[in-house]
Amino acid sequence: MEAIILAGGFGTRLRPLTYTRAKSLLPILNKPMISYLIESLPPEVDRVVLAVNYRKGQIEEYFADHDCGRELIVNDEPTPLGTAGAVKFAEEYLTGRFFVLNADIICSLSLSEMIRFHRNHGAVASISLWPVEHVSEFGVADAQQDGKIVGFVEKPRPEDAPSNLINAGAYLLEPEVLEYIETGRLVSMEKEIFPQIITDTGKFYGFVLQGYWMDIGRISSYLEVHQFLLRKHKFDNYVGEHCKVGGHLHHSCLGNHVTIGKNAQVHSSIIYDNVHVGEGVTLSDCVIGENVRIGQASTLKKVVVGDNEIVHAQTSLEQDVQWTQSIPKEYPKKQIGNPLQSS
Ligand code: GDD
Ligand code: MG
Repeated sequence: MEAIILAGGFGTRLRPLTYTRAKSLLPILNKPMISYLIESLPPEVDRVVLAVNYRKGQIEEYFADHDCGRELIVNDEPTPLGTAGAVKFAEEYLTGRFFVLNADIICSLSLSEMIRFHRNHGAVASISLWPVEHVSEFGVADAQQDGKIVGFVEKPRPEDAPSNLINAGAYLLEPEVLEYIETGRLVSMEKEIFPQIITDTGKFYGFVLQGYWMDIGRISSYLEVHQFLLRKHKFDNYVGEHCKVGGHLHHSCLGNHVTIGKNAQVHSSIIYDNVHVGEGVTLSDCVIGENVRIGQASTLKKVVVGDNEIVHAQTSLEQDVQWTQSIPKEYPKKQIGNPLQSS
């Protein structure tokens, strides 16, 4: 059985971190987010197709060094084909029923249970669901008591949302779903294919997952997932190898080769590899990219610093993004797949 992992988005809401790396490789407690997903695959999955485009070289490099324990195919789309177009583009690797998984989610979903659920319901398509308070950044399902989904709206306005159950980004699909996807153009699974399957087959089901679910779409959720996992593992902080910590860490994550100067204070922040934080610096709710230097006595609050940047001594920044280099030319100005109604 195959699992297609959708890992081709640009991660525009996570820039500038995604100017220099694929979103699925963003580290969470020093491990690429895609590894969490791969570790959650059930034994039935013997082939993984990574549907990629932007920065696919980095993804290939990562998996060349990290065996995922199954056959792995890196399927490179010439241009982004959307969440369904990418699936159609992987058709030649599919042998039967298959999973499609968004790469930017950390959750406790049991994919084995989802297989049982799908079989028991005789579904053509099953999707994972999760209840949230604010639905408008997600796909929303209109589900009946028995799990049957009778309506699906991608990123509705709050007043148009049929329920508070959102698409949690894991699908189990029968091969006939492929017939609904046109070849060679950008096709959205959520906007075009799901509503069509509901109308045509009436065999679209939702599996509400238990436990936890977090989408890493934005810097705020990227920071939150760290806080959640630190608490879950009962770690005060998570510190990589070869770090020198002169100051104080509070609920933070350091990569490898990080130096924290004397009297520095680091609160609820994520610091990547090879970073130098000067003496007396205060960081709170920040993400600091690789090879960054932060000059002494600077104060940064809710700031994202991209890779290779220098923050001069005594700088004070709040709710800011630090990026002084050029933006990769292939990088889009806004989200291209299923943007919010307002964007
Ligand atoms: N290969 C490929 N090609 N992958 C893509 C493309 C593409 O053109 N566009 C997006 N992806 C990947 C992204 O990398 C991500 O892993 C996944 O598909 C979903 O795309 P996002 O851009 O992250 O979508 P979203 O977060 O706005 O909404 C989606 O996820 C929500 C749950 O987090 C939708 O599926 C919503 O319905 C859902 O609720
Ligand atoms: Mg997403």
